[in-house]
Order: sequence, then structure tokens, then C-alpha cells
Amino acid sequence: MRKPNPNESIFKTRLSKVLRTKKLGKSIYVFNELDSTQDYANSLPNNESLHGTTVIARKQNMGKGRIGRTWISPEGGLWMSIIIIPDFSLADIIFTQFIGSLAVVDAVFENTKINCKLTWPNDILINGKKVCGILTDVNAENEIKKIVVGIGLNANIESSSINNYLTDDNLKATTLKEEYGNDIDLIILIKSILERMEYYYDNFLSCGNTLEIVDRWKERSDMFGKKAIVYDGNQQVMGEIIDLDQNGALVMKLSDTSIRKIIYYDNVSLH
Ligand code: BTN
Repeated sequence: MRKPNPNESIFKTRLSKVLRTKKLGKSIYVFNELDSTQDYANSLPNNESLHGTTVIARKQNMGKGRIGRTWISPEGGLWMSIIIIPDFSLADIIFTQFIGSLAVVDAVFENTKINCKLTWPNDILINGKKVCGILTDVNAENEIKKIVVGIGLNANIESSSINNYLTDDNLKATTLKEEYGNDIDLIILIKSILERMEYYYDNFLSCGNTLEIVDRWKERSDMFGKKAIVYDGNQQVMGEIIDLDQNGALVMKLSDTSIRKIIYYDNVSLH
């Protein structure tokens, strides 16, 4: 396994100085270059996989997206994976990715005043274009051992460096640099994301209810009332999106007026 080099620790030291969390980001690995922060976090042994351990790379050579896609990750973007050692059951896994996306939306607003929109299960959009994706890997046997939440935020890069590589069925990408008009300090963005993630996670654990997460997610999404095609596993489901229920399931009204709830997530395309 590749070890961080001393130059990379300047970034780490700056981040540690500003970060106000109890656990998230307290153990950090920072790399100038890595194949994938997600792979690195997944392969960390148990004794290095503390709750909140965060892996950051300035550039990824083989970034992973959902459904086996490649995630283009040039320098200037925010590429990080956070280890969660869960204190909840398998049924609640869906909430970790909602927590990740809400934290990004809050952090972007805090630093740019831009209001992002969420689409189920986890894309973060600005003006209809994708600025961030979240990938959740669960390492479980009978019970969940470790969850890795990967955040890919197109921060200080040009969208052409991504869009030139996308196929037609991909949502077009945008970047914070283009939407905001300026570069943003990645350390401050990471600090905000980790602090907001910890806030949502702690509330989720202490209250045991998912009300705040679901309500906030619904406030930030403009999917409701729209017709959509949703993939439930390999099966395509067409209908109107009417709600996100307390279990994190997407509630759809199909053309025969029956109601279908989808908790297993894959790809969503809106019309
Ligand atoms: C998506 O397809 O929408 C999810 C993309 C997630 C990309 C991030 S970047 C940091 C982490 N490392 C990876 O290899 N992938 C995730």
C-alpha cells in the first residue's frame, strides 16, 4: 500500500488546524496522487479503519464512480473517502449517503452561497448539471463492519476536463469554479463537509430517527412531482416521484396509479 510522503503532510497539518470535529477527519491520509481514495480506504486494515478516518487525494488516476463507471479526477477537485464504523443496522445504510450529500450541499452553500439540488439517490447538481457524486461501499458479512463514503466534488477544475470524457448517457458535469467564478480553498471545503457530516451523523445516532435527514433532503431536491425513470436493480421503473419516506425509500406513482417504493438504488434519470 502506498504511503503518504512528507510534502503531503503540509495539507494535513493545515486541515488539522482548522477542523472542529470530534471524530471525522481526526485520522487523515493525504496523497498527491492515488489510484482511488475509495479503494485505499476500503483496503485499510481494521486497526487503521477508525470511525471518521479520511483519505484525500489531490488527483486520482483510477477514480471509481457508481455502477462501475470511471470517475474523472484531475488535480483541483475534491476527492475523498470517509470511513464510518456504523452503530446502526443494515436497513439504515441508505442514510449514510444522504448524510454525505447533505453535508456537501451545506458546505457548498456555506462557502459560496450557491444552492445545490439533490437527485435520488445521490447526485448533487447546480443548474441541472452534476457537480458532485457520492459512492457508498459497505463492507459487511452478517453485520456491517465498515462503510466508506466517497465524495467526488468538481471543485477548482474546468468542466471541459470532465465533459470531454463523458458518454452521452452521462449527466453533463459542472464545477464549482465555473458556477462560483473563483477557486475555493479545498481545505476549508473539506473542513465544512466533515463538520456537517458529523453534525448529521451524531443527530441521526442520538435521536435514532431519520426525520431531519429525510426532511432536509426533500427540501433540497426538486424531483418531487416529476416524471422519472428509476432503476430498481436492473429493472426500469417509470412513474411520478411523489415522496421520500422515513426509511429513505423513493415513493413513485406508476402509470396504473399503483405506488412503488424503491430502496435499492442505482441510476436515476429525470425527464
Ligand atoms: C458517482 O458515480 O456519482 C459517484 C462518484 C464518487 C467519486 C468519489 S471521488 C472520491 C472517491 N474515490 C473514488 O474512487 N470514488 C469516490
